Amino acid sequence: MKLAQRVINLAESATLAVSSQAAKLRSEGVDVIGFGAGEPDFDTPDHIKQAAITAIQEGQTKYAKPASGLPATREAICAKFSRQNSLTYKPDEVMVTSGGKMAIFLLAHAVLDPGDEVVIPKPYWVSYPEIVKLAGAVPVFPVGLEENDYKLSPEILAASISDKTRMVILNSPSNPSGVTYHPDELKALAAVLQDRDLIVISDEIYDQLLYRGQQTMSYAAINDKTYAQTVTLNAASKTYSMTGWRLGYAGGPIEIIKAMKKLQTQSTSGAATFNQVALAAALIEQQSAVETMRLAFEQRGQHMHSRLSSLTGVRCSKPTGAFYCFPNVSGTYSQLGVSGSIEFSSKLLEQVGVAVVPGVAFGMDEHVRFSFATSMENIDEGLNRFQKFVSA
Ligand SMILES: Cc1ncc(COP(=O)(O)O)c(C=O)c1O
Repeated sequence: MKLAQRVINLAESATLAVSSQAAKLRSEGVDVIGFGAGEPDFDTPDHIKQAAITAIQEGQTKYAKPASGLPATREAICAKFSRQNSLTYKPDEVMVTSGGKMAIFLLAHAVLDPGDEVVIPKPYWVSYPEIVKLAGAVPVFPVGLEENDYKLSPEILAASISDKTRMVILNSPSNPSGVTYHPDELKALAAVLQDRDLIVISDEIYDQLLYRGQQTMSYAAINDKTYAQTVTLNAASKTYSMTGWRLGYAGGPIEIIKAMKKLQTQSTSGAATFNQVALAAALIEQQSAVETMRLAFEQRGQHMHSRLSSLTGVRCSKPTGAFYCFPNVSGTYSQLGVSGSIEFSSKLLEQVGVAVVPGVAFGMDEHVRFSFATSMENIDEGLNRFQKFVSA
């Protein structure tokens, strides 16, 4: 069977692969502690579920009109951007997509041409390079210093930009590192980017999951120039524990949003209608469920970080957002006889039944990613096993 070259060149999502491998082992009766999944272990809050159930019962089961999102849902998105991100978008400047990933996909296809360069800081979320390559563009991977939690300095960012740069992807708080840019750090990056003819994707899918009093801001909210060059992305997936509902959204310059909408009419035709009603409820109604989840993640993240940091050969940035620790474990490689993060992760799974994601999937083979979107008991049991594994 002949397949298209673009698919042959495409890497499968490593995070989804690890979750399925762990699920398969579990179904065979193996006792696996999973740190692979990038999704909250909480249920979707009841009032959000109820909004979808009512919408279905009321017959909101036809195509969403328009395909770019129900008017009430786009109003709710504008209200969220204004309340939580100090961003003013009109309903025509936002859209609803089938998951956050789809918003990035649409944006890449709306603005990139073959040969364009896209700056993707390392460590990066697994799907960015593949989506960019599918659009025919070329990823460029700057990396900050480890002692600066891999955050980009203005100098490192500037060195990665050429006259072919069409897009820069910022993701704060970060998947996989759990690290967050402070407003001053974002302003310093803006000084490099704001006068250039390029588009910034600010992926703020973890914007409501901040810890240790971390401050941040939306890149687009820095000034008029950053506002005019940025598409701000978000989703219901992480904040409201709605990964399976497939609900993302974007706000940005009207020409770009229009182009993304056009692509959406020829692809998914939009997010499921009744799910969009639930998204409006999630964004507008009480936020106390989010705070309950955030507090649990904060405790778990601190605990995981302090246990990981106490291990010989392991170095780990403090997670200030999202729900990941991304330790550098390369100090254990020679003693374990492994050559990189894939071998490390599969030995860890085989020998002690602990699933993590190899860092090479995020562009860093010295690291592995642990998700702390799991119970404290799992974290302790998994880290007991991990400690035994790296100390053997
Ligand atoms: C940084 C980042 N952006 C986007 C997404 C995509 O989210 P969704 O599940 O809504 O497609 C994820 C999911 O893991 C993510 O971590």
